[in-house]
Amino acid sequence: MSIGPSQGVGADGKKGVLARSAALHTEMFGVEAGCVRGAPGRVNLIGEHTDYNGGFVLPIAIDRWAAVSASRRDDGRCRVVSEQYPGEAVECGIGGTGAEEAVRSLDPAWARCIAGAVLEATRLAAGRSRPPLGVSLAICSSLPVGGGVSSSAAVEMAVVSAVDQLLGLGLSEAGAVDACLRAERTYAGVPCGLMDPYVIANAEGGTAMLLDCRAGTHELIPVPRDEDAVGLLVDTRVNRALAGGEYAVRRAACQRAAAGLGLASLRDASEEMLLASRSRLCEDEFRAARHVVRENRRVLETARLLRQAAEEQIEDWEPVLEQIGVLLVQSHRSLRDDYQVSCAELECVVDAALEGDGVYGARLTGAGFGGCAFVLADPAWASRVARRIEERFDRQFDRRCGVSRIASVDGAWVRAGEQAQ
Ligand code: GLA
Repeated sequence: MSIGPSQGVGADGKKGVLARSAALHTEMFGVEAGCVRGAPGRVNLIGEHTDYNGGFVLPIAIDRWAAVSASRRDDGRCRVVSEQYPGEAVECGIGGTGAEEAVRSLDPAWARCIAGAVLEATRLAAGRSRPPLGVSLAICSSLPVGGGVSSSAAVEMAVVSAVDQLLGLGLSEAGAVDACLRAERTYAGVPCGLMDPYVIANAEGGTAMLLDCRAGTHELIPVPRDEDAVGLLVDTRVNRALAGGEYAVRRAACQRAAAGLGLASLRDASEEMLLASRSRLCEDEFRAARHVVRENRRVLETARLLRQAAEEQIEDWEPVLEQIGVLLVQSHRSLRDDYQVSCAELECVVDAALEGDGVYGARLTGAGFGGCAFVLADPAWASRVARRIEERFDRQFDRRCGVSRIASVDGAWVRAGEQAQ
């Protein structure tokens, strides 16, 4: 689902972001980096707030990158600089018994998941008793922070990948995913699901990933080619903070709903069960659970349509894309009405996308509460659709949103050798 030139070119392309992080490393630490690694962000095509319910998601890795340049230190400390947060290096010890607590309370908070990723990666590889190994890290990214495209998991994966290479840890892809998950949950404090690190590690360009988040297994399904469909990413630039906020509230509602149904997770819930148990659930639990049950079905249906189209090698994608578009819009409305994670800016983008010709479907992507929307458009209309959205957004909010094309790319752990600098 690539539509030609996107933001992922020039200074913001993979090479550009990697080069920026290498230059930042040399400038801030006075030595050249021992290794430079990148990891892509992701757009979830459909399947929102299903991952932590043991359900299904259908994301792609996209051509926007986080890059980390790393060098070794022998003092057991982690020093981090980031292009996004200019200033002195943030520093903390990553060896010894107090390391976990030190990283958890690191100030500024943005550095916690980064130092946490280092800590988890080295621990996984070496066990707790090995002498601490230190690292200096310089971070750059072309992913909007808090934009719903997994900027934080991309940085964590790039850190884990760089530390793995620099220190010769020999981590497996599953180990890397695990280290990123722990970094996000334990140190950033976001009780996220499996989707982001898993797809960022394992995605393959030209395909979407149907991920079964309970089994931890996936299937890669080809997506339409550039000439058949265009994916637009629309950044509302409304920044959402997930830690300790509404995300955790939604997750807790799902857990209570599952408990009310006598289930371990909502993965096994059905609409019939929900209706039969309605009196045992409060309204927000019922609505959250209804979203999850229906969203899982929509993911499987979208995957089925794509799989069938690939198997039949269809020429005319339009009827399939129209059906997928309906599912995308249903997903968005369910996230708005039942899950209540949309906002005025996302509504404006989705309305503007759907109000004219050339769009199959549109929905918020990621956790919601701001961030980005994904628009599935007809290539012949893509530029006009982009303008339509920009103009309406500008009229309504008196500021610009960012509209760009996205392409699906390989994950960080796929053909990893090609990334080595
Ligand atoms: C965030 C989380 C993911 C997932 C999405 C919503 O991106 O990191 O694990 O829960 O929200 O689908």
